[in-house]
Amino acid sequence: MDLKNKVAVVTGGSSGIGRAICIALANEGCKVVFTYNSSEKGAEETLKKLGKNCFKFKMDLRNEKEIEKLFEFVKKEFGKLDILVNNAAYNKAGDIFNLEIWKEALISNVVGIVATIKYSKPLMHNSGKILNISSIYAEDKVAWQGKAAYSASKAAVDNLTRTFAKEFGSKILINAIAPGYVDTSSWDEFPKEVKERSKMELLIERMINPKEIADMAIAVIKNDAMTGEVVVVDGGLSLKTV
Ligand SMILES: NC(=O)c1ccc[n+]([C@@H]2O[C@H](COP(=O)([O-])OP(=O)(O)OC[C@H]3O[C@@H](n4cnc5c(N)ncnc54)[C@H](OP(=O)(O)O)[C@@H]3O)[C@@H](O)[C@H]2O)c1
Repeated sequence: MDLKNKVAVVTGGSSGIGRAICIALANEGCKVVFTYNSSEKGAEETLKKLGKNCFKFKMDLRNEKEIEKLFEFVKKEFGKLDILVNNAAYNKAGDIFNLEIWKEALISNVVGIVATIKYSKPLMHNSGKILNISSIYAEDKVAWQGKAAYSASKAAVDNLTRTFAKEFGSKILINAIAPGYVDTSSWDEFPKEVKERSKMELLIERMINPKEIADMAIAVIKNDAMTGEVVVVDGGLSLKTV
């Protein structure tokens, strides 16, 4: 797929990996609509880095009506959609028996993604690309204490990437990227020492830069020969700990 003048929606563009993907898509000539939930300031910062014909849109993945409104906006503004990047996620750690954390993770990270796909599909007019941002915690033998709900939700993302690929066939190609530890503000919930220690778990002995995930996102979206795949970009994390 040539990305020039394509219309792309990126969820969670107000920081981290989502912001890097928005910038990379805009640099390729895409018109980007990205979402934010609580970080209006972060969304403003992202928007400043994008060219014209790009928009921010407030949307909570837990609210189907807001998801529907996002795609109504895309339809009104552009009349079509070429690319959907499901990047936003609830990623907090906590007590593995806290059912509120399970509900948050499964509703935001699984039901929310199904809903964005549901409302984007009619706008893709039988031709488009979907990229889901998963995690190395989804399937490899990598685990983090307190991240059971998050990991299970990402395993569901990998699974729906494969099953939706079979449903969509040649019309809409859907893939995922499973990152290892990426240097974003999502690490702020942990003490600094945890981040320092964690980066040494990667064979590359450093955190992955969000742009390195965005570069892979562009390569996957451009590629017309892959669907139902989960591409691992983990700096050797899974190799080192297995
Ligand atoms: N960083 C890592 O080490 C790492 C590793 C593996 C996978 N990932 C995955 O990469 C993706 C991006 O992570 P990141 O590290 O860049 O995180 P981040 O900087 O914390 O960004 C998360 C984004 O998701 C949005 N979001 C959170 N809850 C939402 C909700 N209920 N509705 C709508 N939007 C919501 C946030 O919006 P607001 O801030 O505006 O609320 C923000 O834009 C996630 O899918 C994450 O699971 C990250």
